[in-house]
Amino acid sequence: MNRLRITGYEVVVAPAALDRLPELIAEVAPAHRYAIITDENVGSLYGERVRGSLPSGTALLTVPPGEGSKTRERWAELTDRMLESGFGRDSAIVALGGGMIGDLAGFVAATYMRGVPVIQLPTTLLAMVDASAGAKTGVNTPGGKNLVGAFLRPAVVVIDPDVLRTLPRRQLAGGFSEVLKHGVIADAEYFQRIADEGAELLDPNSSHYSGIIQHSIRIKGGIVERDELERGERMVLNFGHTLAHAIEAATGYSLLHGEAVGIGMVLESRCGEEIGVTERGTAARIAQALRSLGLPTGLTGEALAETILNATRTDKKRRSGELRLALPARIGAMSGIEQGWSTAVPEALVEAVLRDPSV
Ligand SMILES: NC(=O)c1ccc[n+]([C@@H]2O[C@H](COP(=O)([O-])OP(=O)(O)OC[C@H]3O[C@@H](n4cnc5c(N)ncnc54)[C@H](O)[C@@H]3O)[C@@H](O)[C@H]2O)c1
Ligand SMILES: [Zn+2]
Repeated sequence: MNRLRITGYEVVVAPAALDRLPELIAEVAPAHRYAIITDENVGSLYGERVRGSLPSGTALLTVPPGEGSKTRERWAELTDRMLESGFGRDSAIVALGGGMIGDLAGFVAATYMRGVPVIQLPTTLLAMVDASAGAKTGVNTPGGKNLVGAFLRPAVVVIDPDVLRTLPRRQLAGGFSEVLKHGVIADAEYFQRIADEGAELLDPNSSHYSGIIQHSIRIKGGIVERDELERGERMVLNFGHTLAHAIEAATGYSLLHGEAVGIGMVLESRCGEEIGVTERGTAARIAQALRSLGLPTGLTGEALAETILNATRTDKKRRSGELRLALPARIGAMSGIEQGWSTAVPEALVEAVLRDPSV
């Protein structure tokens, strides 16, 4: 069993950890009652197993799968169900699922009776390497992704890589976008190793997962330790995400978050190359790594460019006439330390790159 620490809470990575929940949460999140929040897919695979291991009185609350459930309406419904079932201040929430559930259940926990503990049990690679640690929770609104939310440190994050065996391959591949992002941000060797191994990593029985998950959490955790509330350095974790969020919204959430992040990293790197802060060839290397994992590297269509640009206009990071992007200097290092870890990019340039990524 491997234990990592981020800002005061533990991330435990261990095969079969799901069967050891009581011992893992007893000290850090003792509660009178637990509410497991999950989606229908994960609930049908693991819901009863997790409920069975927790004290009697534990409820299993299920929402439909997919990004469409990460809304204020589902937050209200879950909150109401907990109130009706008599959950008090001495309850704790178990977020069992991918990043969608982590964000939604985390936000329920952050607000339920002014806040109850949340235990994160991530079940997708994306949630294991990125979403579950870092204390961000929230929901989407019609205006954009993650626009309403709160910071809530999990009481503990319990990662059981064995559950990846049931994760669809497309979802597994999508998680590698965030892994590649960690490489671009902080570790060129790590990036290259993932790029070289490519599709071999998509074997769900691969023994590599524990190591990859821990390495990524160490990179992300180091950044979160230095800047938990995203006043500065943590912005580097948004690399690829300003355009990814706009792409997700513009395509009606038909792309996976990880797929949109991959495309966003290519496009944002292209912008960085054009304004001279990113080493030439960075976007091409990222695109190649994505291709080796079977991930998309771009989008086509003039109309889409317009829609994506419009969607960036509601992004939290926007200042008028320009976008502020967290950009790499090269694979393994970010630029913009002097300007608060992000760089102003003229909207006209972003539009040109969106219309023709090869400009
Ligand atoms: N809070 C953060 O710091 C942070 C960081 C990155 C991403 N996110 C958020 O995470 C979300 C995306 O997360 P995701 O990619 O995990 O998607 P997801 O939670 O929607 O899960 C993807 C799909 O996989 C299914 N699934 C999950 N685990 C499974 C398993 N073990 N076996 C079989 N099926 C399984 C789910 O039911 C779902 O259909 C987005 O909303 C994104 O904004 C948050
Ligand atoms: Zn992400």
